[in-house]
Amino acid sequence: MTTKILAGNWKLNKNRNETREFFKALGTQAASSPVKKIVATSPTLLESARLAAEQSGVEIYSQNIAWDASGAWTGEISPVQLKDIGISGTLIGHSERRQFFGDTSESCKRRLECAMKHEIHTIFCVGETLSERKASLTRALLEEQLKAVCDLKAPRELLVIAYEPVWAIGTGVVAEVPQIKESHAWIAEILAKSGAPAYQILYGGSVKPSNFSEISKIPYVAGGLVGGASLDPKSFLELHAALML
Ligand code: PGA
Repeated sequence: MTTKILAGNWKLNKNRNETREFFKALGTQAASSPVKKIVATSPTLLESARLAAEQSGVEIYSQNIAWDASGAWTGEISPVQLKDIGISGTLIGHSERRQFFGDTSESCKRRLECAMKHEIHTIFCVGETLSERKASLTRALLEEQLKAVCDLKAPRELLVIAYEPVWAIGTGVVAEVPQIKESHAWIAEILAKSGAPAYQILYGGSVKPSNFSEISKIPYVAGGLVGGASLDPKSFLELHAALML
């Protein structure tokens, strides 16, 4: 059986004190479970979160990573700098990076290559906007966004895909089961066709404790990338419990 994954994406939320409070409340309740638990934080929280999370079994990830280990890249965060503070995981290509901060398939590819070179565990995010879905472009778009992954053929244990339809992120609109089923199966097919490893695929977009159990049972859904519902320790534990069902 492959390990299920619960990954929280805290976006631009929490300060160090709130982070410590979160992990204090979490305690060791989920520490020894077979679920892989991750929280991706802002750069200023990474180190304190890692220390605060030590007993909880939660791994701390960055929300972004540079395409180079060092150099003239103002505002970026390098894999070497991450490792220096004990962080060895990151998100790449979250839709908010692609939509609002200019990340493209090309820049995501470069970030991914750099992350893999430095053995940084990566959750690589893909997903269509509402207008792309309405124009029946979902399949083509996913294929295009996954090209970086297919070309690279990274080790399976270093890379996870997150399918997050942009229209379902932070909106309260959850994709319907058949829509999730279709996209996840399509992603698995794209990976298989290219000869890439069968990477685990997470679903993201308005995941909540109340819908997570159903979503996580859909074929090819290995867990979730969760924003809003991952911020509260009680809700995080409920999400965790939903994966154990
Ligand atoms: P959400 O965010 O769960 O708040 O919709 C998901 C994400 O952005 O990864």
